Amino acid sequence: MTRIHIFDTTLRDGEQSPGVALNHTQKIEIAHHLARLGVDVIEAGFPITSEGDFECVSRIAREVRGPVICGLARTARADIERAAQALETAQRSRIHVFTSASAVQIQHMLRKTPDEVLEASVRAVELARQFTDDVEFSGQDVMRADFDFVIRLYRAAIEAGATVINIPDTVGYGTPVEYGRLIARVRDEIVQGRPVEISTHCHDDLGMATANSLAAIENGATQVECTINGIGERAGNTSLEEVVMALHTRKDHYGAETGINTREIYRVSRLVSRLTGMPVPPNKAIVGDNAFAHESGIHQDGVLKHKETYEIMNAELVGREAAVMVMGKHSGRAAFRKALADLGYVSDGGVGDHGLNDEAINALFVRFKELADRKGQIYADDLRALVEAGSEITQTFSLESLQVLSGTHVTPMATVRLQTPNGVREAASTGDGPVAAAFNAITEATGLNPTLETYRIQSVTRGSEALGEVSVSARYGGMSVAGIGLATDVVEASARAWLHTINQIVAGQTKAKVPVEQTP
Ligand code: KIV
Ligand code: ZN
Repeated sequence: MTRIHIFDTTLRDGEQSPGVALNHTQKIEIAHHLARLGVDVIEAGFPITSEGDFECVSRIAREVRGPVICGLARTARADIERAAQALETAQRSRIHVFTSASAVQIQHMLRKTPDEVLEASVRAVELARQFTDDVEFSGQDVMRADFDFVIRLYRAAIEAGATVINIPDTVGYGTPVEYGRLIARVRDEIVQGRPVEISTHCHDDLGMATANSLAAIENGATQVECTINGIGERAGNTSLEEVVMALHTRKDHYGAETGINTREIYRVSRLVSRLTGMPVPPNKAIVGDNAFAHESGIHQDGVLKHKETYEIMNAELVGREAAVMVMGKHSGRAAFRKALADLGYVSDGGVGDHGLNDEAINALFVRFKELADRKGQIYADDLRALVEAGSEITQTFSLESLQVLSGTHVTPMATVRLQTPNGVREAASTGDGPVAAAFNAITEATGLNPTLETYRIQSVTRGSEALGEVSVSARYGGMSVAGIGLATDVVEASARAWLHTINQIVAGQTKAKVPVEQTP
């Protein structure tokens, strides 16, 4: 069996998704979950781009044990030195140097000649090797490049000391056959049995990222670069869960395996969706709501008689257990704890363990009881949402009560009562709708007025009693911040999301998003 290395770039390429800005706490939380998922490499960020990114990569390098921690750098000396500095404390580090390979990018973006690009790449790889023995090299936009130049560029990078050569289809242009052929050419013409790993990095503009990555594996690639839920620039990157489960389910065909603990997939998928505010489409393979649901009578009948009639994988294998677990207002603390443990949220006291401790479980139990009173039955997904919404930061402001008056011929009006470190604060305000009125009242009570950028609402489980989950993103003082709120009442869920956003601002959990020029 060939061992395929999973290089996760959720925190770097994934974070380049439009509208996504993760703060430090969120990135570190995701990095710990990725380590627990068993990825081989975490691309933690692009350290030269901002002080914040540098700090974040440094913290991940210091704290997260297990995977190799990787930092991205252009071919400029400053980029490489900054990446090396950020990675200083990592157990195992990698510097990922990138340039451009296609004529269109070399000419219009880098404004260099191909020979200059090649020389800069050689110098950059040599410099990176002075800091670490693990250096990855990428030439962007390979699939629109002159393949003879690609071969020349990568041969030079290997001779300069690159240990991993990554072949990015940056704009998602390649087809599986073409991409597979190029990988085979790289394998036969330049790697030629040397200890250099071939890596694939595909974007999903034509919906072929997973197919292209798998074609690369069939032709000699042993590393796949991917993101959770396939998030990333434009249409996104290759989905980690799709590649991993394709290799797992079709071992007979690919003869390859990964080190991923597949049972962690669903949890990480939800975490990333929640923290980025990017919902997972219901029909998304592996992690979408409908991925294991059977609707038609014939299918249901088949699955009830024998699961394999319409299922090629078990939901349990990716950490989902449909709606089997039902709890309610009569469930006690022990049953609640057990349910959380079954879902993998309870701390086992291990090193780097980010599970819930007793204090956190007790606090969540109070929310669970309130919820059970209002909603009746509580499913596994409700519990997940409860844990995820409650696990982030200490709340400076917490919602004690919310009253909203709204209707067809009245101006919506909201009154909030908040607990604050200086006692209770109350405020009332109007708005265009009940949600806007609640936001305005909270702004009034807290004195903080971020600008709302995106607002999303989705139900956690099905049916009219379902929990509503609201995610918002906002700007405050040039920084981005995101919040989430959960309640059976959607206006209350919205108010909680807004308050969560404001609490993050108070806790300093904001994130600057700085554009970076390609030419160093
Ligand atoms: O898509 C791309 O080319 C990249 C590189 C930096 C590897 O993300
Ligand atoms: Zn990319």
